[in-house]
Amino acid sequence: MPPADPPPDLIVPDGYTLHSENTSHILLPSDNGAFLNPVQEFNRDLSVACIRVWGEQMDETKKLKWEQERERKAQKAESKAKKQKLDDGKEREVEELATEGSEQVVEAAKPKLEYRPSQFVILEALSATGLRSVRYAKEIPQVKYVIANDLSDLACEAMRRNVELNDLHAKEDITEEGSSTQIRREAKVRVNEGDACALMYNHRTSKNRVDVVDLDPYGTAAPFIDAAVQCVNDGGLLCVTCTDLQVLATTNYPEKCFANYGGLPLKGEYCHESALRLVLHSLATSAARYGRYIEPLASLSIDFYVRLFVRVKTSQAEVKKLVANTASYYVCSGCQSFYEQSLGKVKTSVSAKTGDTNYHYKVNTGPPVSDKCPECNSIFHLAGPMWSGPLHDKNFIGKVLDHVEANSDKYGTSPRMKGMLTVAKEELDSVFFFSPGHLAGTFHCIAPSLHDVTSALLHAGHTVSRSHAVAGSLKTDAPRSAIYSIFRSWIKNNPVKMEKISQTSPSRVLIEKEPAFEANFKHHPGATTKSSAVKLVRYQQNPLPNWGPGSRAVSGTKRKRPADA
Ligand SMILES: C[S@@+](CC[C@H](N)C(=O)[O-])C[C@H]1O[C@@H](n2cnc3c(N)ncnc32)[C@H](O)[C@@H]1O
Ligand SMILES: [Zn+2]
Repeated sequence: MPPADPPPDLIVPDGYTLHSENTSHILLPSDNGAFLNPVQEFNRDLSVACIRVWGEQMDETKKLKWEQERERKAQKAESKAKKQKLDDGKEREVEELATEGSEQVVEAAKPKLEYRPSQFVILEALSATGLRSVRYAKEIPQVKYVIANDLSDLACEAMRRNVELNDLHAKEDITEEGSSTQIRREAKVRVNEGDACALMYNHRTSKNRVDVVDLDPYGTAAPFIDAAVQCVNDGGLLCVTCTDLQVLATTNYPEKCFANYGGLPLKGEYCHESALRLVLHSLATSAARYGRYIEPLASLSIDFYVRLFVRVKTSQAEVKKLVANTASYYVCSGCQSFYEQSLGKVKTSVSAKTGDTNYHYKVNTGPPVSDKCPECNSIFHLAGPMWSGPLHDKNFIGKVLDHVEANSDKYGTSPRMKGMLTVAKEELDSVFFFSPGHLAGTFHCIAPSLHDVTSALLHAGHTVSRSHAVAGSLKTDAPRSAIYSIFRSWIKNNPVKMEKISQTSPSRVLIEKEPAFEANFKHHPGATTKSSAVKLVRYQQNPLPNWGPGSRAVSGTKRKRPADA
């Protein structure tokens, strides 16, 4: 969708340029382009769609509760009415009253008001130009107001200007339609100048909490996570961007990754999924300190950053489950096979008396593998601990996808949104992935097609999906030994030039092993799915010359944050 036209009477002041995105327009100081990264339009589009759908789900839950409460009150009134009649000594009328008279009482007890759809408050902790907050206010109908915060005075000045430009500021003496009374219109985007953590800590008591918190920093979101998990309402939504993939998705700065996220990164083609799991680990353990737990709704690896949407709830019983949803991984330095070491284990028993499920938590046994890779004899590196549970809520992603499909014209990046959501919706919950093209490099063979490998895995009784994180990759519940048997079968018909492989190469050890079974590469009907037909547009189309995470704006503040890498 091309952006909407700017207001006809707009005169762009000297020293500014007009930037339009979707419904919204902002004025950017010409000398400070770092204020805005236009390539993040996909991030903002996705966020609008996810918050809308989260809001609809939250409203359905509230409506259901409201109806149940109404029913409960009506029943209470009904039994009170019956009791009153009995007390009056009119026992013989009770039956009739129960069906007639009390119905009138019940009706009377029902509130006359219809259910009013709920509205919610968003806190954008790091707003820069305010473009994201402006879009939320204009494009999400359930928004009551957005608090747009930034530490920089220049950013806040820009925000105030942009809020006014989009007619979202407070107005005195407004005349309501069909009335002559003059009222004050509160601002739909409320600008706050200050430190993000201080603002969020001010909102942490249950009556001050907000419904949605958005963290979109330069680099890591780590310094803001403790405050964010506390100031979001029960069932509220936390949206987090981290652009420090040098820390999260390489092994160049393991000490920094551990300091920021409480886990170690890994080297491997699935390093971006591990980045998502490290951020989830940090969110989950931070929330757990306050008796809260997270439900990942969508965890996406995009271009040069990760973007996560998680629901935050309160329950000590759920917090306990985290230890069994957290794992470290031994990652082979030769062939990238990995072995999971879950930190804790949970045993369940059903009470014969109550039928309730009881959970018993135990420390785990280990290690899960010997000190050398059983497939290629290389050493292991340790990664994690990190979140080992599901990355997404498939039902939620399905709803966001439906929303985008029904509103394609409302998003500038809708083809890419559909592509990524389609793949994420079908993604298996199993941890990490492999790509046949990459593995063919390790085996020094010509690459089997994705379809061939998918068919072979399905014929061997495993499940398979794509991964949204890397085009051409597969997720499966098959162990590495089964995947390698498929490759060992493949090279029987597609021989490898062994003379080109050094005697000491891990590949030689891999290749020389016999397959444990003979793979069947014939077409399997399950190998074609919606997501296998999606050609994932992984990178922004027509990237700009300064494409990438962007640099900090000239912020007008002396405060410095630790370097991102
Ligand atoms: C990447 S920009 C935000 C971009 C914006 N969310 C968007 O979608 O256009 C990060 C902003 O965080 C602000 N910032 C950095 N540290 C902060 C802090 N401790 N409190 C508040 N704002 C901060 C910076 O001034 C900068 O404007
Ligand atoms: Zn290995």
